[in-house]
Amino acid sequence: PLIHLSDYRPSDFLIDRVDLDVRLHPSRTRVTAVLALRPNPAGDPDAPLRLDGDELSLVALDLDGRPLPEDAYAVGPSGLVLAAPPRRPFTLSIVTELDPGANTKLMGLYRSSGVYCTQCEADGFRRITYFLDRPDVLSVYTTRIEADRDEAPVLLGNGNPVEAGALDGGRHYAVWHDPHPKPAYLFALVGGRLGNVATRFTTMEGRAVAVAVHVEPGKEARADYALDAVVRSMKWDEEAFGRPYDLDVFNVVAVSDFNMGAMENKGLNIFNDKYVLASPETATDADYAAIEAIIAHEYFHNWSGNRVTCRDWFQLCLKEGLTVFRDQEFSSDMRSRAVHRIAEVRQLRARQFPEDAGPLRHPVRPTAYAEINNFYTATVYEKGAEIVRMLKTLLGPDAFRAGMDRYFAENDGRAATVEDFLDAFAAVSGRDLAAFAQWYARPGTPRLAFRTAYDAAAGTCDLTLWQSLDGGSALVMPVALGLVGTGGALDADCPDLADGVYVLKDAEATLRFRGVTERPVPSLLRGFSAPVRLDGALTEEDHLVLLGRDTDPFNRWQAGQSLALRLIRGGGPADAFAEALGLLLDAEAPRDPAFAALMLSLPGEGEVANEIEAEVDPDAIHGARKGLRAALGRALRDRLEGIEARLAEPAGTPYSPDAAAAGRRALRNAALDLLAAGDPETGAARAAARLEAATNMTDRLAALGTLALIPGDAREAALAAFGARYADEPLVLDKWFALQATIPEPGTPERIEGLKRHPAYALTNPNRVRALVGSFAFGNPTQFARADGAGFALVADTVAALDGTNPQAAARLLTAFGSWRKLKKSRAAKAEEMLNRIKAIPGLSRDVADIVTRTIAPV
Ligand code: ARG
Ligand code: ZN
Repeated sequence: PLIHLSDYRPSDFLIDRVDLDVRLHPSRTRVTAVLALRPNPAGDPDAPLRLDGDELSLVALDLDGRPLPEDAYAVGPSGLVLAAPPRRPFTLSIVTELDPGANTKLMGLYRSSGVYCTQCEADGFRRITYFLDRPDVLSVYTTRIEADRDEAPVLLGNGNPVEAGALDGGRHYAVWHDPHPKPAYLFALVGGRLGNVATRFTTMEGRAVAVAVHVEPGKEARADYALDAVVRSMKWDEEAFGRPYDLDVFNVVAVSDFNMGAMENKGLNIFNDKYVLASPETATDADYAAIEAIIAHEYFHNWSGNRVTCRDWFQLCLKEGLTVFRDQEFSSDMRSRAVHRIAEVRQLRARQFPEDAGPLRHPVRPTAYAEINNFYTATVYEKGAEIVRMLKTLLGPDAFRAGMDRYFAENDGRAATVEDFLDAFAAVSGRDLAAFAQWYARPGTPRLAFRTAYDAAAGTCDLTLWQSLDGGSALVMPVALGLVGTGGALDADCPDLADGVYVLKDAEATLRFRGVTERPVPSLLRGFSAPVRLDGALTEEDHLVLLGRDTDPFNRWQAGQSLALRLIRGGGPADAFAEALGLLLDAEAPRDPAFAALMLSLPGEGEVANEIEAEVDPDAIHGARKGLRAALGRALRDRLEGIEARLAEPAGTPYSPDAAAAGRRALRNAALDLLAAGDPETGAARAAARLEAATNMTDRLAALGTLALIPGDAREAALAAFGARYADEPLVLDKWFALQATIPEPGTPERIEGLKRHPAYALTNPNRVRALVGSFAFGNPTQFARADGAGFALVADTVAALDGTNPQAAARLLTAFGSWRKLKKSRAAKAEEMLNRIKAIPGLSRDVADIVTRTIAPV
């Protein structure tokens, strides 16, 4: 049964206040909810009251203080219905009982390593009590939490703490009140034995906020970086967007069993612990960067998501796309903007482009869904962020900021829509954004093609641009561009450009540049100004000019990627590319090591596959890419060895996760990896030595990763030693699982079967499953899609095993099959067979049934 955007109707009832009393117990938690209801003036005055519920047992039900007669209501598996509710304000008091220990779906209230926690987005609150579980019903919550003091000395809720105290029998309680009306998906509570690190932050309005990050006792020191990231996020949102925090406390809690990254519950963000815990010994530079970004993301939701929430789940991008854009801007300000932009685009191409080209494609604002939890996708998040970025490019920074201010002011305390968002920008800029709004509605990645015509005598160059995307008219896209010559940017005149941006509105347009003094190379889509595919009309020489001379760092990097792609797809000598990279390294390695490291990393196998329309052969791609890496490693050997030596840190240098230090490590490790690709034998010895000498997880894991690609005893010994060293560190073991799962060799499925028996592996923990099986499915294309079908079978078996306990995690893993139709026929047939096998499993969850049906549906 599909839910359609066009079917939206306001709720027939509203809930103004919610008083919850939660008595925590491992298997019989009792929840009393007192709901202040009233008919919605905008709803149907004769409608029944339908409260959502899921896997609850109803203990008692009172209306205005009197038990409801049994014939006045009906309870079923999806909720509670009062056929003839009062047509005036009334109070419903509902007692339910639930079993947190048995809640393996990790939705609603559950226990993770002895800690009670909740996850209510998108529809988990209905697993706590019967409710109008929809984002446009906003209520003021007061929550009383009671527990055994021994089991749960720390009790946290949304909003501000009101009172706390001891009770008989070793029990205690805490009361929390959240003055900001919110939808149920933002509800949270936590109860457990937790340590914390804490600080104070004073907002621009002078409010003193107690900030704390709560973690497993003993791991407090590993929460320092996250705590610092919270404070930096608070400050940045004030400076960049004028958004202050609005409660007296802000709590972050790390739990070890969590289906996603983290959750923005009001005043009480709950995190997957891998996005909180960090120490030099256990976390890589990439982990530190991810912690900073996700802490910021969840914090920024306080305005983009919580103060202004979503009318319905079709508007998910309204909070997610906007909040991703905000966290990207934050990270860019904290680190290097150019380097971060490249990382964002790589991620978009690796995750969103294939989604947009496959059977699971959907618009940034979907129009129908069977299971909303399957729409927390790269398209909604990442492409959603690109739309906001384009809006900023189109309007300019000042109008963009004014539009954001207006959006927050007009919609504070409301459940808004994408139209409300765009209306704010239209109002402040006087622009008609109706055509731009098509970005939210049209699935697929547009193509942008171009041609130049240079007239040397006249000194003019005509640049023609074409865009195409099936299923409709032209989109409005900002194309940042310029002309480049052998000496760098050409100072040519073009009246169609404003601040270097041309706004393409039609299917085709021609721009004339004047005063062009030499044959120019166009540099298009600078900074990746629109989420499109640029069809190449440049020669190798043109790319070399851009690589060496463009003033836009993104396009210099892109030129390197384009050259590498040509070589991977078409073969041929890599000499010219290697020489250009060498010169670039000479200039950039000392100046910007992080950028130089990115220049050395070739497009991933998935990105190469993206460029191929049909009959994808992962082995051929892998072989060609490996060949190019080997050629570059040999051609650049002296320089790479120089980098390796120069960037070695003097013994005793303390680890710092800052961007500059991380950039030096990234370049040195990229050099090691490329050297080893060029000469595996000495590479293995070099990597083993580096592993031995490593003083932090970044270097250790990088060296192990290089070694993992070189079969032999050295590799096996290093893997075994690493596994033993970190036997008690689940988050580090995840890296170890993931690394082994991505080894592109036929023995890998068997290795994974062995690792499934490792004492630390557990199907009940989403991080473990994602590390071992997810890394294989999403990060090992030659083995996942191998010709004998063993890779598909391994993943399908895990999906089937997981579906009974954690359907959300199972469905996410299954999306790895999304590009199956593009594979070479024999492999596609194996994938289809596995999909059919999954589809035939009796009692499949709605989550997995939805993904499998859409994945297999004929195009
Ligand atoms: N809102 C959370 C975040 O982006 C993610 C929640 C994911 N929920 C889900 N049902 N998949 O920050
Ligand atoms: Zn989010």
